Amino acid sequence: MAREFSTVGVVGLGTMGAGIVEVFARNGIDVLAVEISAPALERGRATLKGSTDRAVAKGKLAEADRDALHERVHFAVGLDALHSVDLVIEAVPEHLDLKQRIFAELDRVCRPETILATNTSSLSVTEISVATSRPNQVIGIHFFNPAPVMKLVEVVRTVVTAPEVVADVEALCARLGKVDVTINDRAGFIANALLFGYLNHAVGMFESHYATREDIDAAMKLGCGLPMGPLALMDLIGLDTAYEILDTMYRRGGRDRRHAPVPLLKQMVTAGLLGRKSGRGFYTYERPGSPVVVPDEATPLATDGALADGARAIAKVGIVGSGTMATGIIEVFAKAGYEIVSVTRGMEKSAKVCEAVKTSLNKGVVRGKLAEADRDAALGRISWSATLDHLADVDLVVEAVVEELSVKKALFASLDEICKPGVVLATTTSSLPVIDVAMATQRPADVVGLHFFNPAPIMPLVEVVRTIRTSPEATATARAVCAALGKTGVVCGDRSGFIVNALLFPYLNDAVKMLEASYSTADDIDHAMKLGCGYPMGPFELLDVVGLDVALAIQRELYLELREPGFAPAPLLEHLVTAGYLGRKTRRGFRDHSHR
Ligand SMILES: NC(=O)c1ccc[n+]([C@@H]2O[C@H](COP(=O)([O-])OP(=O)(O)OC[C@H]3O[C@@H](n4cnc5c(N)ncnc54)[C@H](O)[C@@H]3O)[C@@H](O)[C@H]2O)c1
Repeated sequence: MAREFSTVGVVGLGTMGAGIVEVFARNGIDVLAVEISAPALERGRATLKGSTDRAVAKGKLAEADRDALHERVHFAVGLDALHSVDLVIEAVPEHLDLKQRIFAELDRVCRPETILATNTSSLSVTEISVATSRPNQVIGIHFFNPAPVMKLVEVVRTVVTAPEVVADVEALCARLGKVDVTINDRAGFIANALLFGYLNHAVGMFESHYATREDIDAAMKLGCGLPMGPLALMDLIGLDTAYEILDTMYRRGGRDRRHAPVPLLKQMVTAGLLGRKSGRGFYTYERPGSPVVVPDEATPLATDGALADGARAIAKVGIVGSGTMATGIIEVFAKAGYEIVSVTRGMEKSAKVCEAVKTSLNKGVVRGKLAEADRDAALGRISWSATLDHLADVDLVVEAVVEELSVKKALFASLDEICKPGVVLATTTSSLPVIDVAMATQRPADVVGLHFFNPAPIMPLVEVVRTIRTSPEATATARAVCAALGKTGVVCGDRSGFIVNALLFPYLNDAVKMLEASYSTADDIDHAMKLGCGYPMGPFELLDVVGLDVALAIQRELYLELREPGFAPAPLLEHLVTAGYLGRKTRRGFRDHSHR
């Protein structure tokens, strides 16, 4: 018989604590909510009220249920009030000494059978437990932010946690409607160990002016389907909490430099820019605690996408190549009303591309997304050619030929001879340095990267890559073209992986390393990222879709360019590729797809 938890204590009513109170009270459990001072208690009470009022306004909670929920919550200052609860969850700031003091005090105050749990994200549950006389009744219950919404709970058992305590807590999680993964006590557990290197890397990109906050966040939302960008997520987590988590992970997790907090973080924390809770972090919020972002001095001016910042007028576009990307890009430009010259290496190839574009446009017609007349007009705007000479009068060239530097360089040298002055020359490369391609021409200022995602007609994101030689006008032109295509163009520097791949693939590689270390299973890791962080796919699902060979190639590039030891490809990834287990395309990758 699982233990009955009828009254639960929550210590600390900040970002996490207030949400945890709500989770218990929503599920019919009485809560004693405790803070350090009367003003902090009032803040916690206000957070709970704000959250439940928003749930009522959104129709997710009935008014009567909200009122009943509030009746179940009692508030107190100081830990003494917790003498008769069945379980305590501590959610005070991420400092070991503070948590140890609180656990020693809880041990004194609470009944001997009370389970003591910490919501720590990165500290050692074991070290916290030894501050008590009952380490076997101490456990980690790691909720995700926002606690009422995110389904995942990481249950962290130490070497001394009693098995029945683990079982009781797992049963409690089920009662709360949560999905739990039970794991051992390691820095960052599953989700944060995979998340925080990525978040810190994104802050580093922002700090080095590699891209703006809006562009970094848009890239990860639109390129990977994440619910929020990394900098918005840092604001939600709280920069002070994020700093402490990174710092602890750096010290506990083998001094991986990727966890050494980016200096900007410390500066922001010192300056009181803590994120949503203080009303300002990477973004500015309507007021402290509000989720509503308001414009500030760093907010980009809204443009209509047309001719902003010296952007050049583009009417006629040359598209070179005959593969998947070229085909998709031709369709995108044609639908947006541009006149197009498609150049392939032979008219048979052109005929094939033309067929593929027609088939794709026809699908749009069948699905009712495109009128027949618009399809015909789009096709009528494309002329097909097998010679680059026909690009003499275009305003923009988009190159999407094979991913080989020598081929691209030769092509750009030819374009340099053929195209009129002022043309923007764009490469769709996903892994080669754009500057190498640019320097094959006499006009590197006009060369940019336009990194479309596959399938181009569907994916809303384009990375606009500017090299150290790219002119502001060429960048502005590329961005304006993206807007005219109905895409979001994010501008970034010319580094391996641009924004999306540079942030995504090391995370995937880390997941493989975690699996390799037998810390958890592929299923639990996938669950953790989907249910704890709202990712559309877990890392192993995504790797099987992307292709393990592709992931390995990108990871190798990142490692070679940045020489970051933490980016070294996971040996398991290399072995699977060598074994021919490349993912769905070979019916076997991390999972067996032969029966699906
Ligand atoms: N922020 C997140 O996204 C997140 C997610 C999961 C877990 N966590 C973990 O949850 C814990 C709390 O983090 P947070 O982000 O909610 O921090 P926070 O700073 O938002 O809130 C901490 C609260 O604890 C209170 N407090 C401080 N000392 C206290 C004491 N002696 N007695 C009672 N209350 C006290 C503070 O007044 C404050 O309200 C940390 O261990 C953190 O790692 C955070």
